[in-house]
Amino acid sequence: MRAPRNTGSDEPVVNAPGPKSKLPGNLVREEILALKAYPVASASGMIKLDAMENPYRLPEALREEVARTVSTLPINRYPDPTAPELKARLREVFDIPEACGILLGNGSDEIIQIVIQALARPGATLLAPEPSFVMYRTNALLAGVRYVGVPLAPDFTLDLGRVLAAMREARPALVFVAYPNNPTGNLFPEDAVARIIEEAPGLVVVDEAYHVFAGRTFMHRLREFPNLMVMRTVSKLGLAGIRLGYAAASAEWIAEFDKVRPPYNVNMITQFVAERVLGRVAVLEKQAEAIKTERESLFGRLRDLNGVEAFPSDANFILVRVPDADAVSGRLRERRVLIRNFHGSHPLLANCLRLTVGTPGENALMLDALSGSL
Ligand SMILES: Cc1ncc(COP(=O)(O)O)c(C=O)c1O
Repeated sequence: MRAPRNTGSDEPVVNAPGPKSKLPGNLVREEILALKAYPVASASGMIKLDAMENPYRLPEALREEVARTVSTLPINRYPDPTAPELKARLREVFDIPEACGILLGNGSDEIIQIVIQALARPGATLLAPEPSFVMYRTNALLAGVRYVGVPLAPDFTLDLGRVLAAMREARPALVFVAYPNNPTGNLFPEDAVARIIEEAPGLVVVDEAYHVFAGRTFMHRLREFPNLMVMRTVSKLGLAGIRLGYAAASAEWIAEFDKVRPPYNVNMITQFVAERVLGRVAVLEKQAEAIKTERESLFGRLRDLNGVEAFPSDANFILVRVPDADAVSGRLRERRVLIRNFHGSHPLLANCLRLTVGTPGENALMLDALSGSL
């Protein structure tokens, strides 16, 4: 039977869909309709301590030097997707083993998406300790991959026995371990993570978004484990605005992921700025050292606040538990301090707030506002 078609005459169209059936509610996948978009609060006029950014700008001279050369880039052309200069710089600065391939992403967010898409065979499972970075679960859902979250202990330590048992049962194609973990801030023991990699039946992505603050890495162990990928970002190091993530794994893995990666995903300006600024990585590392020092001082001051339980952190943020997180975060916002409230997102995060470590001045203002908000 021929499909009814609109002839342009007054002839009635048989079985034409009503206008309502063309709306998103009828067409978009149910699981996407049920989602909320990733929350990004407006930061205008606020002390911004919600997104684990480096609070320091680049030195003026370096900014000017980068700006001058950016103006010479041929932005009428597509970027080179193989990004040879940037990859060479990443290799040199971050000790990426010569034998490994490198995957670049528009932020490590995109790398998470690429890896999950590539492994989304029918029936595939992704497993991660939780609470952890929310985009593992979100991308599993978007790719139609089953997600298994293995709860951490109430003090956010890794329950290795529970992870191993869950892996034996779920046989995940993919495991994500954030090292250190977000939003809890702690670093799981290296031996435990190595055991997960050994026992995993599939790929394990060790997400080292906060490695500069932790000083621990699996980068040098890539040759030991053929099923290991180390993923990082330059966001927390001080370049969140340019959106660049990178991951290292065996060349075989990277060749497959490169087929899923959109062809020109890392733009020319990002490639160029990252390559230049990472050539002066000592500037960023010095800032990271200052943030670490400030983290320790902030942790001590938070612990001394009545009504605040502060959890130790190896990252550039500190998770705290307060008596009423919704009320406290609302009052902090009234005092122009933006932090992240995790209450309601996971049972283990009841009444938890995540505080990014800012400059000493920002932290003092935040502490003042926090003690006045409790
Ligand atoms: C553990 C972890 N992985 C990945 C990311 C994503 O980083 P980006 O997309 O900025 O590279 C974040 C951001 O907060 C994170 O906390």
